[in-house]
Order: sequence, then C-alpha cells, then structure tokens
Amino acid sequence: MKPQAIVWVTLIFYLLFIGVRFVFMMYPADSVKLRMAQESTPSASERRADNLWAYYLINEENPLRTDFTVGLEKVQGDFMLDERCVDYAKQMIEDAAAEGIILTVVSAYRSVQKQQENLDNYIKRLMNEGYTSKEAKARAEKEIARPYISEHNAGLALDILTPDWWDSHDDITADFENTEQFRWLSENAHKYGFIMRYPKEYEDVTGYIYEPWHYRFVGVYYAGKIKESGLPLEYFYKTNF
Ligand code: DAL
Ligand code: ZN
Repeated sequence: MKPQAIVWVTLIFYLLFIGVRFVFMMYPADSVKLRMAQESTPSASERRADNLWAYYLINEENPLRTDFTVGLEKVQGDFMLDERCVDYAKQMIEDAAAEGIILTVVSAYRSVQKQQENLDNYIKRLMNEGYTSKEAKARAEKEIARPYISEHNAGLALDILTPDWWDSHDDITADFENTEQFRWLSENAHKYGFIMRYPKEYEDVTGYIYEPWHYRFVGVYYAGKIKESGLPLEYFYKTNF
C-alpha cells in the first residue's frame, strides 16, 4: 500500500473511532448511566438525612400492605399528600407560580376504593368503545394501577396539568409534555424531591404508559440522581446505594 493510502486509511479509522465514541458518550447504555450515577453517590449519613422513608418501590411486585395507613395533609384545593412530603409539593407549586407557571393538581392521594372505582370505570369506558373485557382490562391496567400498587394510594404521587387543560382535552394525555408546566417540572421537580415516575420508553420496566403528568416524591437526593440518569426508579431501587 502506498504511504499516502496508509495515511488516508488511518485517518478514516481514526474518525470512525471518534464518531463511535461520541455516539456512546451522547447515548450511554442504561448500565453505564446507572454506574455514572452510582459513582457520584455521597456518604450514607448524607443520604439518611434526606427523606429515606420515601425511597421505596410501589408496583406489581411491591404492593402496599393491606393495613397501610398514611397521615394526610392538603396540598392544593382538597387534594392531599402524605404529610411528610406535602411542604415540598407546596413549595414547588409556590416557586413555579412565582415564575408565572401555574401547576394545577388534578389528583393526589386516592383511597384504594377510589383507585378501584377509577379502574372499573375506565374498563367500562373501553368496553363501550369496543374492546373485549380482557383487552379493556389489560389496557386499563397499563394506565391505572390496581389498588395497593398505586403511588396515589400511598399519598406520594401528584398528577399535574395546566389550569386550562380541560378546555381543550377530555382526557389526560401525553400532550402535557408540550406545555410550559411540563418544561418547568422537567427542570425543577427534582429539587423538591419529585420525579416523573413513568418515563417514555420504559413502559416494559415500569409496567405503565408514559405519564408526563405523574410526579412521585422520593426525596431530594434520589430525585436528583434519578433525573440525572433518565432511568426509572426500578433501576435504582434494585441497587444498594
Ligand atoms: N396512573 C398510575 C399508574 C396510577 O394509577 O397510579
Ligand atoms: Zn398519577
């Protein structure tokens, strides 16, 4: 091979190598993101200080106990949250309002009875739209958790929309991601200990559709870590931080 050709081939390989590295840097694999988050973990005492009580999974494999109880306090209107995290939510709503962003709570704590009612009503609605009962149940359970496996039953979740949402929608949809409320929450919710719990593209991991309106309190420390990684809570909770 001519020396000039060797230079060209080397250059092309070098550029390819740089390109591939760039792509991996920009789009790290989930395992890499998790390692990066773990590497910047502070001491156990720092973590203990920050609402570790709220750091647990509520899902199919980890239901709430049937004798679970929670102390509640109003967050907005008649909507209530666990009294231990309500001030974080109120502060978030107040700080957003100070920037002209009105966060409207449309659901917060729900009793297990209310959860069952919501689920049953949605299944009925889907069946009226032509789904078989099996299809309706399967679809509904991807959007509304069964009683005892909803974070709303624990008083740890808030559903947030815009004040004028219902003027142009008859349902809660992923369109919420196009609002200034969503943009504000994406940048700030973690500072108050809240995460967007059901992110896009992790339906198989969380078991639920993308819900840009659903915010779950996990404490400020974990909210920061989880936001930084872009991964759902399931990945974190399985690790021993
Ligand atoms: N929409 C969420 C999954 C719930 O019902 O808790
Ligand atoms: Zn919700």
